[in-house]
Parts: sequence; structure tokens; C-alpha cells
Amino acid sequence: MLGGGSNLVIGDAGFAGTVLRVATEGFALDGTRLTVAAGEVWSQVVDRAVLDHGLAGIEFLAGIPGSAGATPVQNVGAYGQEVADTITEVVAYDRRAGETVTVPAADCGFAYRHSRFKAEPDRYVVLRVTFRLSDEDGASSPVRYAEAARALGVAPGERADLCAARETVLKLRSGKGMVLDPEDHDTWSAGSFFTNPILTEAEHAAFLARVTERLGPDAQPPAYPAGEGLVKTSAAWLIDKAGFTKGYGAGPARLSGKHTLALTNRGAATAADLLALAREVQGGVAEAFGVTLVNEPVMVGVEL
Ligand code: EPU
Repeated sequence: MLGGGSNLVIGDAGFAGTVLRVATEGFALDGTRLTVAAGEVWSQVVDRAVLDHGLAGIEFLAGIPGSAGATPVQNVGAYGQEVADTITEVVAYDRRAGETVTVPAADCGFAYRHSRFKAEPDRYVVLRVTFRLSDEDGASSPVRYAEAARALGVAPGERADLCAARETVLKLRSGKGMVLDPEDHDTWSAGSFFTNPILTEAEHAAFLARVTERLGPDAQPPAYPAGEGLVKTSAAWLIDKAGFTKGYGAGPARLSGKHTLALTNRGAATAADLLALAREVQGGVAEAFGVTLVNEPVMVGVEL
């Protein structure tokens, strides 16, 4: 089952089977309740909600590649928003039971880049997703991401202009090579290749000691609260500080020159090239900081 294919690494041997690409269409608005078919292009859904209907709730998710039906699977998120904030229900085909089911948001098992759909990868086919958006008279949702707040000139927690929020996110994403540009190899990637590690408080303390030992007392790894007793740190920072700086690599697969978390194809990279780089980075980070990075893209016929 294939959505947009933008978060996928397929082994060089290909896939010996039938691939079904979801290409359904549908965009239905009932007040502020938006239901979209799984095959709709996600970035176009955001554009229509924001630009045509002035609705807030997914504006910070502009420019993310892939299909709308893929968004609940890994609880797509960026710049302080994630789809779990606004999804009210997901209609999916349950291949095990052989029936169509309506899953309310509370039963979707949403967590950082995770859901029950991702937990049971061969079970559900997402068919439709419903979001509860909001009409804020041209204002955005509260701006939660510090970098976005700075760029919009508002304090974190304040609202900005809705269209400006979308524009700003598109600019920030472009600056990080996260918007596909056929001319720019820095953008030939599956986005973030690793998820940001979530550590228990004990693991975090051990990690900080390791950072101090290696980089000195002034090193400050990013740390964000991630639920009861959990701390999220930054994979990009770990990669950078383990010595894999922007543009690292000499072969056909290299780190993006704009963001260390994107593994890019410089034109003729194979999946094997990409995975060799991913393993080198994963091994280097584990050795330097004792943290094992986990891949974000779905792997078909290959493993890290
Ligand atoms: N950093 C570096 N070197 C770099 C880039 C970043 O050290 O080359 C450090 C900086 O300290 C920076 C921190 O990493 O403050 C975080 O970077 P950034 O704000 O770009 O966010 P991220 O954690 O790397 C996540 C998502 C992105 C999403 C952005 C913005 C994951 C795995 N990635 O990246 O999502 O766009 O936040 O919200 O959660 C994706 O999932 O494919 C994706 C692009």
C-alpha cells in the first residue's frame, strides 16, 4: 500500500508483488469539519483549508510532501503542530477483519510520529480523515515552535496571521532543504531520516554526562518535554556533534548541506549507498553519545 511515496526507502532489488497506490479524491467541508480522501495531496489540502477557507489548525503543516491518508499513520508534525491535534476520526479498511472501521481520535494511539496504524503496518488502509479546524478570523493557531514564532515576530503562544504562518513555514522548510526542488540535490531526501530520540529522565541524565565528557560543560543539547518523565532531544544535533556535519559524505549519498537530519541522493545513489551512510551516522552517534537513532521512513526490502 503506497501513499505519496515520499517517506519510503525501497531496496535496490525492488518489491516482488503488487503495489496499490491510493489515489482517491475528495475534500468536503461542513462548517469547520474537514473530511478528505486518503489520496489527496496533503500540501494541497493545507493550501485549500488556509487560502480558500481561512481555516486554522493545519497551517504549520504546509509544504509537507505525501498524501493526506498518510498523515495519521505517523502522526505527521512540524513547527509545533501535529495532525493528532485536529483529527477527530479516521475511516480505515481493516484487512484483518475484512471491514471498514471508523476509529475516533482517542483510539488512534497517537504519539510522537506514531499511531496504531503504524504499530500494525499490514492491517489498516486509511480511506478518509476528518479534522476539526477552526475559524479564527484570519489568525493562526497559537504559535508553539520558537523558530516559527521568531520568524513571525510574535511571542511563543501568540497567534499570527494565518496566511503569514503558512508562508513562513514554507520559507523555513525551504531553507532546510525540506521542500522538493528538482534542481537542488539537498532536497532529494525522505525528509528527516531519523526520529528525535525520546529519553527517560535517567537516560537523559546519563546522556548529558556523556555530552559534557565529550564536548565540555558548555554544550547544550536541545531538550523538550515529551510527556511524563520523558525528554525529547534532537537527532540533527546529535548527528552534527558526532562529527557528521552538513554535507557530510563523499559518495552519491550525503547529508544535506542544509540540515544534518536529511540523507540526500546526489543524483545516482542506490538504496545500498543511502543505507551505508545511515549506518555510519547511526553507529557514530551511538558511539559518541550512547543513543541509538531509529529510522523515520518506512523500509521495504531493506533494514537499517
Ligand atoms: N540542528 C543541528 N544541525 C542541523 C540542523 C539542526 O544541530 O543541521 C539542531 C539545532 O540545534 C536545532 C535542532 O537540531 O535547533 C532542531 O532542528 P529543527 O528545528 O530543524 O527540527 P528537527 O527536530 O531536526 C523536526 C521534524 C521535522 C520538522 C521540524 C520542524 C522530526 C524527526 N523531524 O526536525 O520533520 O519539519 O522538526 O518542526 O521530528 C520530517 O519528519 O521528515 C521532518 C522534516
